[in-house]
Amino acid sequence: MNKPLNARSAPVADWVDIKTLYEDPYPIYQRLRREGGVHWVPSVNRYLITSYDAVIATEHDQDTFSANETDSLQIRAMGHSMLRRDDPEHYRERRQWQSVFKPNAVKNVWTRTFHEKGREQLAFLIDKGPGADLIWDFSAPFAAECLKSLLGLYNASAQDLQRWSQTLIDATGNYAEDPAVWAAGKRSFDEVDVALDEMLEWHLHHRDHSLISSLLSSPEEQMPIEKIRANIKMSIGGGLNEPRDALGVAAWAMLTHPDQRRAVERDPSLWSTVFDETIRWIAPIGLYSRQTTKKTVLAGVELPRGARLGICILSANRDESIWERPDEFDIHREVKPHLAFSKGTHVCLGARAARAEVADVAMPLLFNHLEGLEIHPDQTPTVGGWVFRGMLSLPVTWRDVRPLEGSATSVPVSNPAAASEREAAPHVAIVGSGPAGCFTAKEIQRRMPGAHIDLVDRLPVPYGLLRYGVAGDHQGTKAVSRQFDRLFDSPNVRFVGNTTIGDQVSFEELRANYDAVVLACGMCADRRLDIAGERLAGVFGAGGITRRLNGHPDETDTPTLGRRVAIVGQGNVAIDVLRLLSIRSCDLEGSDIDDAVHGALTREIDTLHVIGRSSAEKARFDPVMIRELGRFSNIEHRLHGVDLERVPEGKDARLDALRTLPGAGSVEVDGRAHMTVEWWFEAVPERIDGQRRVEGMVLRHGGETFSLEVDSVITAIGFVPDKGDAISRALAELPDAAENGRVEAGLYLAGWLRRGARGTIPDQRTDARALAGVLGADIASGDVRCTRQGLAPHPEATDIDGWRRIDHVECTRAASGRVRTKLCTLKALLESARDNSLNIERETRGGAGHGDIPEDLSVSILFGTESGNAELVAEELEQALDGRCEVAVSDLDGIDPGALDPERFYLIVCSTYGDGEVPGSARDFYQALRDDAPDLSGIRFASFGLGDSSYARTFFRGGELLTEALTACGATRIGEFGRHDASGSLAASDVALDWAEGVLALLAEEASMPA
Ligand code: HEM
Ligand SMILES: Cc1cc2nc3c(=O)[nH]c(=O)nc-3n(C[C@H](O)[C@H](O)[C@H](O)COP(=O)(O)O)c2cc1C
Repeated sequence: MNKPLNARSAPVADWVDIKTLYEDPYPIYQRLRREGGVHWVPSVNRYLITSYDAVIATEHDQDTFSANETDSLQIRAMGHSMLRRDDPEHYRERRQWQSVFKPNAVKNVWTRTFHEKGREQLAFLIDKGPGADLIWDFSAPFAAECLKSLLGLYNASAQDLQRWSQTLIDATGNYAEDPAVWAAGKRSFDEVDVALDEMLEWHLHHRDHSLISSLLSSPEEQMPIEKIRANIKMSIGGGLNEPRDALGVAAWAMLTHPDQRRAVERDPSLWSTVFDETIRWIAPIGLYSRQTTKKTVLAGVELPRGARLGICILSANRDESIWERPDEFDIHREVKPHLAFSKGTHVCLGARAARAEVADVAMPLLFNHLEGLEIHPDQTPTVGGWVFRGMLSLPVTWRDVRPLEGSATSVPVSNPAAASEREAAPHVAIVGSGPAGCFTAKEIQRRMPGAHIDLVDRLPVPYGLLRYGVAGDHQGTKAVSRQFDRLFDSPNVRFVGNTTIGDQVSFEELRANYDAVVLACGMCADRRLDIAGERLAGVFGAGGITRRLNGHPDETDTPTLGRRVAIVGQGNVAIDVLRLLSIRSCDLEGSDIDDAVHGALTREIDTLHVIGRSSAEKARFDPVMIRELGRFSNIEHRLHGVDLERVPEGKDARLDALRTLPGAGSVEVDGRAHMTVEWWFEAVPERIDGQRRVEGMVLRHGGETFSLEVDSVITAIGFVPDKGDAISRALAELPDAAENGRVEAGLYLAGWLRRGARGTIPDQRTDARALAGVLGADIASGDVRCTRQGLAPHPEATDIDGWRRIDHVECTRAASGRVRTKLCTLKALLESARDNSLNIERETRGGAGHGDIPEDLSVSILFGTESGNAELVAEELEQALDGRCEVAVSDLDGIDPGALDPERFYLIVCSTYGDGEVPGSARDFYQALRDDAPDLSGIRFASFGLGDSSYARTFFRGGELLTEALTACGATRIGEFGRHDASGSLAASDVALDWAEGVLALLAEEASMPA
């Protein structure tokens, strides 16, 4: 790491004392973060790393920040486990542990066991009666019993495990060298060895799913006994107290936040959110150690070689630069990646199991079955700790017990709030039928099957930005609309098109006639640059250009862009515009681009300037979009304001992506380049020059000011609401919406109108789920009453059959190489919508037409995984496709790429490991592609990557590498990359299912196109 010129020596925090840290570390951490986040703390005899960014930096760089600490107390207390090793030694041990904690093992084996243990412990708690302590009479023995099963240490009692866990952990933190603590630790150390030896012998003859059994399953690879012993002790230390504390704090949080408790009781899917917010709020492992292997600089502070660090998760998880109001427990907050399970090499192996124990089993069990559960009115719960933090006591009482038989965690039908919500039949109007509106409709329908929903749109066609914003060559993304088509199969959901609020229907009428109104009409006005010259002819907004290319009926004029065009902005919208203006019509095969418009816009262009204020490393584009551009070798790219040599390859995703652009890195430009793209980073537009039309743009860049000769300027710096419309005017009179989208009972905001113009299509689904919960809560509490009847559509309104007719006409008249040719005027759209002679029943209703899977399709789902998430996703995709086509699943491990079958279609699901590498099970396959380069022409596949966006530089790179290797061998990729972000709140399988539907719709569309 280069030492920045202004690196300083570590500030000394001599005011920090351990007693206060134990009681309440948060004010101390807040000050440490404010003062930079890296301090020498004499009382702890370590550097404490407290800011989120600094913690992340240590977690992603094991070469500099080693887990293998010299004179480690943990090694002395438990032996040398994987937790105190670096790769590759660490990984060899971790692999042996991995299979037992795999997601499908947790799903198919352990969750059932946890249910049994939960029921037993709940019976024990109930026996103790009101006044019992939730931690010591439920949480601790429950976690101990679960751990016993996971490990297969059946000869130990729950009390043994609790004692071992506590004394081993105490010894790990015995900085004071207290001999009594060492003695207790040593006793446990020996007792564990005896118990383990006995069980190793037992498991030789009694194989089951447990860890000890699995360690014996491949004798040739078996770990040496000393390593097994150390790792078992570490797992006893880590596998019991943390779920106990997560459970204890989650229960405390619910008992002290009644509104949030009610929300969860109504929507049990929120237990998982409760779990994450709990361990963000109070991380069970508050601190762990690392040691520098060399002199380095962290957050601007010099650290010597051999420096001992305390990585303060408790603090990083409350960093105010990441979370708003970080000290508050709030399950409705925006999801950001918390660090409670660590990241990187040592990321918790037991995370899935812990989530199942706490969120899937214990919390629902307690709160569903103990009626009136509350903190004992005469006692006060206590919380403490800083290395490990959790409840020291949580005395509780309850009024009554609901029966335990049947599924212990199912919501009892007698839950009045949930039942009243499920039975509710509100009339809901959703204004705007883009992704936010449609997802909201879907989620309301899911929670309240009796709801009557009208999706109102000012255009005669639904789907908003999917149809008119997403670029025409991204048909896979557009195909998300296929799942929305199914919404309208229900007689309770209507599309009311050609209806403008404030015109055919007033906002007040809407409010008066619907129990609830959700405004999801987005933002479509281009944000202004606010510089001189912006009003000259030749300045356009990116929104207008995208709408024009997408055949939007409001954009009827095709602008003249001239030869040299400046695009201001480097976000994804800017890159979409850049791609569509730079590639040729023949490269748009399979799109629904309007060729006449595309030709007219691009005819003269020979130079595009792309201008952004940020550095290349911080530019707002998605690296995938840049790689996509890199495929066109007849465009020459020149970079200004970035030195690709400065950062080695593989260290920054954006720079790596820029390297793939022909002319910018080592990739050659095709001799017949027809276009030059000049990239300006860290460049600020000062003014636009020209007499009547744009003639130039003045930029400040690299300390100089100079002028670019351009004929037009396209601004792509975001969107704002259209202030002139009736919705904006009505909203201006009302209070601001709360963070959860609620303006007042019965009026809600969704999508961009709620959060501003940011967020991807999958984000809309998360928000929609939460918003449906907010509406449900208002209905259950009586704030929203279900008494109104909705409005009859006005005479000029169009319905979903109208859209089906338009869809039919557009697909039928598709030009060669295009999936549709859009009707671009309101008149043409309305004529087709009302043309009853068109027979749309058979082809489109019920998704049976070109939106469904092609006949005779055979699909192979191949997964590349490290810890099993990709495998679980592959299995769930298989289940979803089963019955719709012939489908098979297999691990990439053991597959010969040369044996791929052109008769099958491949869905590849692959995670990312290490520093942007392909995962273990895909490694040989990937290597064979690289080394043998088999001819894969004729093979067709689609790619779904699993990753974690907190690995900013390498987000889902493993899946990308695999895809690149396949296409380099001649295979054809269909649709866009799908991807799942493990830091987000969406389930990987939900995201993968949406993506797969899009891919299959593309295949179907292709199959239905004339040859
Ligand atoms: C809410 C509960 C849990 C939390 C917050 C948690 C947290 C953590 C953290 C922060 C680490 C990394 C520590 C470091 O790098 O020094 C870790 C590692 C680990 N955890 Fe967990 N843990 C939990 C539950 C469990 C459970 C139930 C098990 C197993 C039964 C488990 C097994 C492990 C193992 C084996 C490692 C070492 C991974 C490696 O070194 O590669 N954890 N955990
Ligand atoms: C040690 C480790 C390294 C990782 N490195 C990356 C990475 O470089 N980029 C990324 O996007 N995700 C990374 N991830 C996140 C995983 O890809 C993600 O958790 C995924 O869901 C794992 O799927 P799997 O269980 O199928 O392997 C990493 C995870 C771990 C545990």
